[in-house]
Amino acid sequence: MTDPDPDRTAGRPDDRAGPVSAWHRLAADAVLLDGFHALKHAVRFGAEVRVALTADRGAALALADELAGDVREELAALLTEVSHDTYASLVPRPHPTAVAALAVRPSRAGNLERLAHSPRTAPVVVLDNPRNLGNAGAVIRLAAGFGATGVVTTGTLDPWHPTVVRGGAGLHFATAVERTAVGELPPGPVFALDPEGEDIRSLKLPDDALLAFGSERSGLSPELRARADHLVALPMRPQVSSYNLATSVAMTLFHWSAAGGAPHAS
Ligand SMILES: C[S@@+](CC[C@H](N)C(=O)[O-])C[C@H]1O[C@@H](n2cnc3c(N)ncnc32)[C@H](O)[C@@H]1O
Repeated sequence: MTDPDPDRTAGRPDDRAGPVSAWHRLAADAVLLDGFHALKHAVRFGAEVRVALTADRGAALALADELAGDVREELAALLTEVSHDTYASLVPRPHPTAVAALAVRPSRAGNLERLAHSPRTAPVVVLDNPRNLGNAGAVIRLAAGFGATGVVTTGTLDPWHPTVVRGGAGLHFATAVERTAVGELPPGPVFALDPEGEDIRSLKLPDDALLAFGSERSGLSPELRARADHLVALPMRPQVSSYNLATSVAMTLFHWSAAGGAPHAS
C-alpha cells in the first residue's frame, strides 16, 4: 500500500509522526489559527506553523490562489487533508473554511525587546485591564493594519487567548502582543484616552507614544492615570457617555496615521 491517508493512519501506534498525532502533541502549548485567513496572515508575517489541517484541501488552495498568491506555495506545503469529522474534533467550533493550524507563540523576551526598542517609529497600544476578548482581537487587528509597534494589555485577560487570536484574524504575528503590569510598561510618553481629556484634534501624537485605553467596565485605572503624561478626548456629543473600546483605538490610530506616520497602502 502506498501513500497512506494521514487521517486514517492517525492514532495507530506506528503513526507518531502523523499530522493528527502532531496536533494532539502540540495543541496545549501552541497558538490555534482558526480558519484560512488566520493561517494566511500568520504565514505572511513569519509565524512558525507546526501543523496545518483542512477538511477540503482543494477549496483551501483555491482560496490561496484567489487571496494569497504571495504565500500559496507555503500553504500548499503545510496543509494536510483530513476527514471533516477529524477536523471538527480538533477545533472548538468548525470554521467555514475548514482550515486550522497550530503555530509557535513568539517568545515573551523577543516581544518585550521589540516593544522597548528605541527609537520607536510607531506607537504601542496599551489596553488597561480589557475585559472583552473580541475587543482585544479587534484591537490587535487594528494595530497590525496601522503598523503599530505592538499591543500591551494589563490585568488578567490573556491577549493570546484563542478567542482573541480568532478576533485578530492571525495578525498577532504582525505586531508584538504581550501582557505586563502598569509598572512594567515600555518607555515612552503615555497619551491616555479619556472623555475628560484634551481634544485629540488639537494634538499630534508622536511615533514613540504609548496610546492607553481604559477597560470597558470602568475606564482607566488609577495606576494608568498616574503614569499618563496627557489625557486625550475623542470628539463626542455631550449626551453620549463613551465609545466602544476598539472603535476608540481605531479613531486614535487613524488620527496618528493622518499626521503621516502609518505605512501607505501599496
Ligand atoms: C467603553 S469605554 C469605558 C467606559 C467606562 N464605563 C468608563 O467609565 O469610562 C473604554 C475606553 O475607550 C476610550 N474612550 C471611549 N470613548 C472615549 C472618548 N470619547 N474620548 C476618549 N476616550 C474614549 C477610553 O479609553 C475608555 O476608557
